Amino acid sequence: MYQPVRKEPSSNKCFVYVFAAFVFCCAILLISASILRIKKPELKLTSTTLNGIGYNDVSPSPFFNATIITYFSIWNPNYGGIFSYEYSNIKVLYSGVKVGVTKIPNDKVSQRKTKHINVTVDVNFLKLIVNGNEKFSSDIGSGMLNLTSYVKFSGIVQLMKIFHKRKTLEMACIMNLNFTSHAIQGIHC
Ligand SMILES: *[C@@H]1O[C@H](CO)[C@@H](O)[C@H](O)[C@H]1NC(C)=O
Ligand SMILES: *[C@@H]1O[C@H](CO)[C@@H](O)[C@H](O)[C@H]1NC(C)=O
Ligand SMILES: *[C@@H]1O[C@H](CO)[C@@H](O)[C@H](O)[C@H]1NC(C)=O
Ligand SMILES: *[C@@H]1O[C@H](CO)[C@@H](O)[C@H](O)[C@H]1NC(C)=O
Repeated sequence: MYQPVRKEPSSNKCFVYVFAAFVFCCAILLISASILRIKKPELKLTSTTLNGIGYNDVSPSPFFNATIITYFSIWNPNYGGIFSYEYSNIKVLYSGVKVGVTKIPNDKVSQRKTKHINVTVDVNFLKLIVNGNEKFSSDIGSGMLNLTSYVKFSGIVQLMKIFHKRKTLEMACIMNLNFTSHAIQGIHC
């Protein structure tokens, strides 16, 4: 009698397992690659303008105030990825002391797009900083005041509605306010 040798089922099974493992590995690689490919959006300072300045360095009531408008841009380089940033703020410091803060509402930057943001900060020096402060007096005397602005955007890049990656953009800029020209000079970020 003819006895067929049926060895195929087991070799078939083996092939199925190997193939499944291969597909699984490919899927893992693809997911990792997609997540790794998520790029950090770029934050840039476009310009800063001074919109009014008031000061008096003479006792009994020295003060300093100014309105600064800062223009930023956020470039989202991700294809198919939306960058959603959370509610944030911009701080302005003088000698390490906070002299102004403005809230920045949350928003989104679409894929391969640049979002322009402008923020107005009212800077008001506290009595604490100006009263009997040698640095303030000498800075006012020199006609230049050195301020630092600090901004941070924290958010999530969402790719193809599946993958998420947190990205934080930070920037600190030093700017010199010129009282004579009422301009902001020498901005370094
Ligand atoms: C600065 O303060 C003075 C007196 O408080 C006020 O009259 C002036 O409008 C203020 N200027 C700015 C730019 O905030
Ligand atoms: C700032 O941006 C808003 C929209 O976000 C716009 O309406 C306004 O004109 C801008 N201001 C300046 C000074 O560019
Ligand atoms: C401004 O202040 C920063 C630090 O607060 C300092 O590094 C820088 O040299 C100062 N620039 C000027 C022109 O005073
Ligand atoms: C401030 O601006 C005036 C007018 O543009 C200029 O003559 C002066 O040199 C500037 N001051 C400083 C410290 O750069």
